[in-house]
Amino acid sequence: VELIKQGYEPIVVDNLSNSKIEMLEQIFKITGKRVKFYQIDLLEKNELEKVFLENENIEDVIHFAGSKAVGESCVKPLMYYENNIMSTINLLNIMIKHKVKNIIFSSSATVYGTPKRVPIFEEDPIGGTTNPYGTTKLIIEGILQDVYKVHPEMNIAILRYFNPIGANETGLIGEAPNGIPNNLMPYITQVAVGQRECLSVFGNDYDTPDGTGVRDYIHVVDLALGHIASIKKLHENSGLVVYNLGTGKGTSVLDLVFAFEKANNVKVNYKIVDRRQGDIATCYADCSKAKKELSWTAKRDIVDACRDSWKWQQYYTKNNTK
Ligand code: UD1
Repeated sequence: VELIKQGYEPIVVDNLSNSKIEMLEQIFKITGKRVKFYQIDLLEKNELEKVFLENENIEDVIHFAGSKAVGESCVKPLMYYENNIMSTINLLNIMIKHKVKNIIFSSSATVYGTPKRVPIFEEDPIGGTTNPYGTTKLIIEGILQDVYKVHPEMNIAILRYFNPIGANETGLIGEAPNGIPNNLMPYITQVAVGQRECLSVFGNDYDTPDGTGVRDYIHVVDLALGHIASIKKLHENSGLVVYNLGTGKGTSVLDLVFAFEKANNVKVNYKIVDRRQGDIATCYADCSKAKKELSWTAKRDIVDACRDSWKWQQYYTKNNTK
């Protein structure tokens, strides 16, 4: 949506394993434009190459495709390594063959493992990931670094996302997780809408102001705009660049619950339970590098995100129970 609004002509490639074809219609409702779409799995090399054969003028690739459920990755590690890593290798091979030089890769704050300090800076050490999902992000960052050494003509932006929340402000596009949500915001919205009884807050004995985990929640539209700022950077022949995309602010689990209640005037039942294995106390970004080099900062706050996530949840519930 943000690309279209700024005059780009995106082509969407997705295997629809964790997304819905109806979203193309939603994009049309918001922008008035139809997006070219290919239902292709990136593991199917020949199919993927067709996209590049049929669209000779592709300039940039934004590589979001990948599985991202931490728990599932521990149960199905090979599936995660194959899906996330092989797909990236296929994509890079095809891009190089077709001389497409610019790629943005969706990485994650998870590559920092347990951070030694907060806020986290891009030059802080990476590694020590605690699950196969996180390790795939780390390995792909390494692959991109190695490919860049032999293809210095390429421009590569590695974007380390912190915790994306929110939805398109129209409430027409958002996140609809399969099964029980792992992440905090979709869990909150499902409790608020009455689909689930009670949010479990995983621990209130962390070394944080209220004892609950602190994260850097970034509105998904700001995150999207961070990609557009990165495309512009790639077009200046940036080479390989790495940016944190966050807000620079830490928000606790209870801060987010209370902000949601206040923004939307709804109640969110919650109870404190034990810590979740693998969680850390505090994680938030230093975003000054993106500000300086991309002229980008997150403009929306958690109140905006709470409002937009709620708008989307209500729309989704209404339209999926008819
Ligand atoms: C998780 C992943 C991370 C991934 C990111 C986006 C882990 C350890 N990390 O980040 O690798 O990139 O999602 O998909 O899973 N919380 C509750 N109750 C809930 C859910 C969450 O209290 O039902 C708390 C957590 O303990 C944490 C905070 O909310 O303090 C955020 O959790 P979550 O949304 O799962 O994100 P992360 O764990 O930061």
